Amino acid sequence: MQDMNNVTIFTHPLIQHKISTLRCVETGSKLFRELVEEIAMLMSYEVFRDLPTEELEIETPICKTVAPFIKGKKMAIVPILRAGLGMVNGIQALIPSAKVGHIGLYRDPETHEPHEYYCKLPDSIDQREVYVLDPMLATGGSAEAAISFIKERGCTNIKFLCIIAAPTGIERLHSAHPDVHIYCGHVDEGLNEHCYIVPGLGDAGDRIFGTK
Ligand code: PRP
Ligand code: URA
Repeated sequence: MQDMNNVTIFTHPLIQHKISTLRCVETGSKLFRELVEEIAMLMSYEVFRDLPTEELEIETPICKTVAPFIKGKKMAIVPILRAGLGMVNGIQALIPSAKVGHIGLYRDPETHEPHEYYCKLPDSIDQREVYVLDPMLATGGSAEAAISFIKERGCTNIKFLCIIAAPTGIERLHSAHPDVHIYCGHVDEGLNEHCYIVPGLGDAGDRIFGTK
């Protein structure tokens, strides 16, 4: 794991191997979905490393003892539709109590700027620690807009998880929301003329849902 300037990059070989398989053009939708879920689960293992625990009394078949349990923390995970949906199950498998909100954004094909079409967030979102999910951070426009919507609802504790990021996206997100820590599987070279990440993996939403 590499930590610098509010960005954590996951260098673990299991994560890197799965990201490399995601990139392959011959990886079909079923395997692609499974990998996105597995990568999200492996990332969250590290993201949630510092969750507070409390000692509770329990009884084993042998005797009474005290053992650590995760302290009831209010959490929400918010996938950016569509592609962020692919990461939800992997995280919920580890944190089943997290509430799930949804923000629907699509990038205008000409301007590459995001347009909102849906937003439904859990009750008392302002009191929760919020984890925004999207496999791709390209120009950073979608992540910036999604986090602005969440902040407008009073949230102050937000983190962003992506699988592949372009340096431009990291810079844009940092300058718009310097308080938001970015967790990322890999930082790629840059963007092409259509604002796709290079080498990237193509269109994450299309590959997850088999729409192209
Ligand atoms: C993709 C991706 C991000 C966004 C990243 O979504 O899932 O949300 O592009 O690009 P950006 O950093 O330049 O904003 P897209 O708009 O293609 O929608 P989809 O998930 O429905 O395919
Ligand atoms: N959205 C994607 O799905 N892929 C990219 O490379 C850029 C934006």
